[in-house]
Amino acid sequence: MPKLNENYLHVKDSYLFAEIARRVKAYEESYPEKASRIIRLGIGDVTRPLTPRAVKALQEAAASQAVAETFKGYGPEQGYGFVREAIAAYYGRNGVQVDAGDIFISDGAKSDTGNITELFARDNVILVPDPVYPVYVDTNTMDGKEVVYMDGREENHFLPMPDESVKADIIYLCSPNNPTGACYSREQLKIWVDYALRNQAVILFDAAYEAFVTEPGLPRSIYEVEGARKCAVEFGSLSKTAGFTGTRFSYTVVPGELTFCASSGEEMSLRAMWNRRQSTKFNGTPYIVQCAAAAVFTEEGMEECQENLSYYRENARLITEALARKGIPFTGGVNSPYIWFQCPGGMQSWEFFDYLLENAQVVGTPGAGFGKNGRNYFRLTAFGTHEKTAEAMRRFEELLG
Ligand SMILES: Cc1ncc(COP(=O)(O)O)c(C=O)c1O
Repeated sequence: MPKLNENYLHVKDSYLFAEIARRVKAYEESYPEKASRIIRLGIGDVTRPLTPRAVKALQEAAASQAVAETFKGYGPEQGYGFVREAIAAYYGRNGVQVDAGDIFISDGAKSDTGNITELFARDNVILVPDPVYPVYVDTNTMDGKEVVYMDGREENHFLPMPDESVKADIIYLCSPNNPTGACYSREQLKIWVDYALRNQAVILFDAAYEAFVTEPGLPRSIYEVEGARKCAVEFGSLSKTAGFTGTRFSYTVVPGELTFCASSGEEMSLRAMWNRRQSTKFNGTPYIVQCAAAAVFTEEGMEECQENLSYYRENARLITEALARKGIPFTGGVNSPYIWFQCPGGMQSWEFFDYLLENAQVVGTPGAGFGKNGRNYFRLTAFGTHEKTAEAMRRFEELLG
């Protein structure tokens, strides 16, 4: 009989979205006449379709696969040079120098932020924020690693900063943040980078929402900070930027400067390890998707994406203005598709979830699903349609009187 990985016993059930679905279904069954009124502003999936340039590139690439002379089979595990160069050029246009050779193409930031845990030994001090994107915690738990939480609270604007009394080895940062929508300033990231360099720690920087940053001066990449190439890995994704949640494309930057010691004391290169890991366990992102991604990373391709993001920004504006009118404190919505706010009337997040569903037929995400610091908070997303978002917020305001 195989002995199973007991660490899976310690992973919390993926309870959040299943429980939301269960409660919505129960409500629909009890009040079938209200079912068609339900508006979902809870999930993090996009609604705008792929951009014209992405679709054209996909179609042309698919057609080229029908011709023996242009057909492509297995590609490089790291991704094609043309798309790695396109991403390096995208960074360059944002004033950041990243070498194409440090960029690894993948099928999702979820996979990569999860898989990278393999490169690290068990006895590291791993810092994650709370509230947190649950993948960071669950993947470490599956690997038998424990995490240490750093609190994101209203007092620190949900942007935890280093605690000098904790000597971390691995630090997860996500900015703009899911679920809180908060975004680190360059000065704050510099403090993290300096801390990491002093402690010989590595920062795993999740930049999945970088394209949502609109306020001038806020960093879209940790490499905007001096010294970050010596201490940070960065994850990017086209899921939200270009509507690729179903098409699947992401990238991970692992600078060659990142060398650390193995438990045995031997110096190892993180880039070489990631390369070895990907070459062994991954056979690449589909060629046609890489062609579409290369089209997205051009100047014109990104302009098209920004039009879609502006659509979501308008929804975020509708949500944040309604909250402001009600005097409810919130973060996010400006540089992020997520809006995070304190549940009115001192309610707990699941209590507020039920209250909003039952009285306004609006579905959001209870903050408790992202950690203990989310217990009194709620997340709404800007990924709906204008009509539904406006209607949801009209009902929200009416409900709160
Ligand atoms: C913070 C964060 N990182 C990564 C991901 C995963 O993105 P991908 O679709 O590229 O796997 C998400 C998706 O919701 C996310 O919120």
